[in-house]
Amino acid sequence: MTYSLVDYADVQGLVRFGYGRMTSASYALVRVKDVAAAKVWLRAAPVTNAVEKRPPPTAALQIAFTAPGLAKFGLPPSMMNGFSREFRNGMSEDYRRRLLGDVDRNAPERWDWGGPGRELHLLVMFFAEPEHFDSFVQSTKGNTWSEAFEEVIWLGTSNLDGDEPFGFADGISQPQIDWDEQRQTPCTQLEYTNIVAVGEFLLGYRNEYGKITDRPLLDPDATNAELLPAVDAPDKKDLGRNGTYLVMRQLEQDVREFWKFLYEHAGGNLAEAGQLGTKMVGRTQGGDPLLPIQDEPIPGTEPRTAKQNQFTYEADPAGVRCPFGAHVRRTNPRNSDFPEQRIGALRKLIIILGFGPKGFYNDLTSSVRFHRILRRGREYGSELSPEQALQSDLPNEPRGLHFICLNANIARQFEFLQNAWIANTKFAGLTGESDPLLGNRRAPGCPVTDNFTMPCEGALPRRVSGLRQFVTVKGGAYFFLPSLRALRYFAGA
Ligand code: HEM
Repeated sequence: MTYSLVDYADVQGLVRFGYGRMTSASYALVRVKDVAAAKVWLRAAPVTNAVEKRPPPTAALQIAFTAPGLAKFGLPPSMMNGFSREFRNGMSEDYRRRLLGDVDRNAPERWDWGGPGRELHLLVMFFAEPEHFDSFVQSTKGNTWSEAFEEVIWLGTSNLDGDEPFGFADGISQPQIDWDEQRQTPCTQLEYTNIVAVGEFLLGYRNEYGKITDRPLLDPDATNAELLPAVDAPDKKDLGRNGTYLVMRQLEQDVREFWKFLYEHAGGNLAEAGQLGTKMVGRTQGGDPLLPIQDEPIPGTEPRTAKQNQFTYEADPAGVRCPFGAHVRRTNPRNSDFPEQRIGALRKLIIILGFGPKGFYNDLTSSVRFHRILRRGREYGSELSPEQALQSDLPNEPRGLHFICLNANIARQFEFLQNAWIANTKFAGLTGESDPLLGNRRAPGCPVTDNFTMPCEGALPRRVSGLRQFVTVKGGAYFFLPSLRALRYFAGA
């Protein structure tokens, strides 16, 4: 079977670019009022593709659909069933909210958007350099926008110069997509690499298992003539090819509570408060890793970012430098496949079944190459320095992260990260802990997870307790970010 290279002209640009130069961005979450008008608008919408342009564009438009949105545009159930179950069922269904930790203060009933009974259809993303933003939004909306859509919510973003609202550099580590399918999959990979199969981020290509993720395959007819054939079923039209799933969550950050907690636990010493925060994130505020950079390059780590990304946790097996529970060590433990030749199958089984010796070293953390995501979120709210956060007389205002990630398999990528590595009460030998930034601490029926353990060299680990809930989920939904061909198909062009 031959695989063609990716046609960037058919892929929405967000898969390839973060649009970092376009520091103004807004997200319109809309419901379709008039399908015919919505199709007219969609046909004219200047959606930006992933072709690299010189000079780069000053503005970009991206469009994604919820499952009810696709149904609204006329996709019959037979086609909808080709999409993944998690996309079709949505983020706020009962089983999923428990899986994601969306209970209590995070419960979908409390969300500002995306909760039960508040159906959304489209996510329209506007990016532009600041001086072009207003005119770009206006011209893109055009005359049909208000006839076609009802705006459920308009989410603005802010430019914090690469930091997230707690004050730590963000967007540093991203997987590198193997666009040309240079790496063989399936494979056994005993060393960590940052290169990940294109099929992990685009439907219609081989993923890390060497397989092609399920997506709707259509019988050819006059309406879908423009869609590409499926590589694994050439007599079918591939509605998913060059598209992907987009996860969006509005994560409100209580910046004052975060710094107040750190400051109290550091005995009123701001420098020490910063050090505790650094351990919780797993990088310094400036974004440096807590481990020395290794000499050997890591495949897929660009020389430009080597100072921040050329490391694994192999040099820190006890978590003394970067605690196991730190946000970045949880979300990317930088490990590779289980080294079967060093540990017998029987012993592996014993450990999997939980009868092995207890402790950090024997815990199995699944290989990361099956669980990478592309992060494309943006911050909102104004900057608040740690000093300002500690002043109680300043008015509070909403701040946080419009978390957005792209992945071809929501269950195995985003949901696995959120459930097994972030929200789980047991991770890497730790109990009574969840992600120190994101944990919601008290899920009904689960142990309290308000601890954070920092192993120490030759001494007992230091454990900080009483962590509060610093992040609250305010909205969320799963979307499909289609190829440009699929977009034209939805628009009936
Ligand atoms: C308000 C919420 C969040 C904050 C403040 C936050 C903050 C950060 C920071 C400061 C970094 C280090 C910089 C970098 O490597 O880019 C980071 C890395 C990362 N975060 Fe988050 N994050 C949040 C939510 C999430 C969520 C919900 C997920 C996934 C479900 C996630 C996944 C990741 C991943 C995969 C990395 C890169 C780790 C690596 O490759 O080393 N984050 N985050």
